[in-house]
Amino acid sequence: MSDAALSRPLLELDTVVKTFGGVTAVGGLSTRVTRGSVHGLIGPNGAGKTTLINLITGLFHPTSGAIRFEGRSLEAMQPQAIATLGITRTYQNVRLFSGMTVLEQVMTGCWLTREVGVFASFLGLPSARAAWVRTREHALSLLARVSMDHRADELAETLSYGEQRRIEIARALGSRPKLLLLDEPTAGMNHQEATAIGRLVHELRDAGLTILMVEHNMGLVTEFCDDCTVVNFGRLLATGDPATCLADPDVQEAYFGRKTDAERIQALR
Ligand SMILES: Nc1ncnc2c1ncn2[C@@H]1O[C@H](COP(=O)(O)OP(=O)(O)OP(=O)(O)O)[C@@H](O)[C@H]1O
Ligand SMILES: [Mg+2]
Repeated sequence: MSDAALSRPLLELDTVVKTFGGVTAVGGLSTRVTRGSVHGLIGPNGAGKTTLINLITGLFHPTSGAIRFEGRSLEAMQPQAIATLGITRTYQNVRLFSGMTVLEQVMTGCWLTREVGVFASFLGLPSARAAWVRTREHALSLLARVSMDHRADELAETLSYGEQRRIEIARALGSRPKLLLLDEPTAGMNHQEATAIGRLVHELRDAGLTILMVEHNMGLVTEFCDDCTVVNFGRLLATGDPATCLADPDVQEAYFGRKTDAERIQALR
């Protein structure tokens, strides 16, 4: 890749609008995600965060505006084509397949890296068998990366919420994405589990991945995000480094309401 391409933002949102009937979920939002960063997407409930992830992954198409990934327009593309470009996600409410083991869940995420066709698989040809073994090894290595390899043969639905979220992350890594979108990856976790997710996200970034994560825990955003974008009512409130964004009076007001300085300090304690 050329130096110019490398220095360009990996993901750019340009005046993106998404309306559902009379509701404007995203109202002309622009932001950019730097390659190799952990970028926090934050904002109060109903701010439009999940809608943005749905737009980036092609589940929804924007009403207007542009979404570019490595300079390429995504607005009219279908989810599978976007995944093929290197964007995968996890969901706000964990979505795992019932009746499947942890390892099988992660193997389903490796579909994009399959090297053999359906017929070879159907006929059980040696090439298909060898590819299956490689996929299994890849899935096991991803489970090790999220510290879940010791659970490989268990049914995913029997595991804790925090463990299921880790499996979802491993599954999203199966297709070797460039950009990973995490929708509230620490929801329902205690402080220790949430911090472990923060560390995992850093390890993934250090291995070359770019991560955009929706996060409500401001302590985690400050500790683990390189940049952030704050939205409210589908509009940009602030973007930049987390400490500066969170100190922004508009951001404070969106989270805590209009308060005196003393009340704000108290609320942050
Ligand atoms: N498929 C949809 N159909 C209609 N309205 C929708 C749809 N998806 C989202 N909305 C609306 O868009 C707005 C933004 O919702 P969204 O789920 O993106 O918010 P969010 O920031 O992810 O909130 P939360 O923190 O609660 O997850 C809300 O008013 C919501 O009701
Ligand atoms: Mg949401």
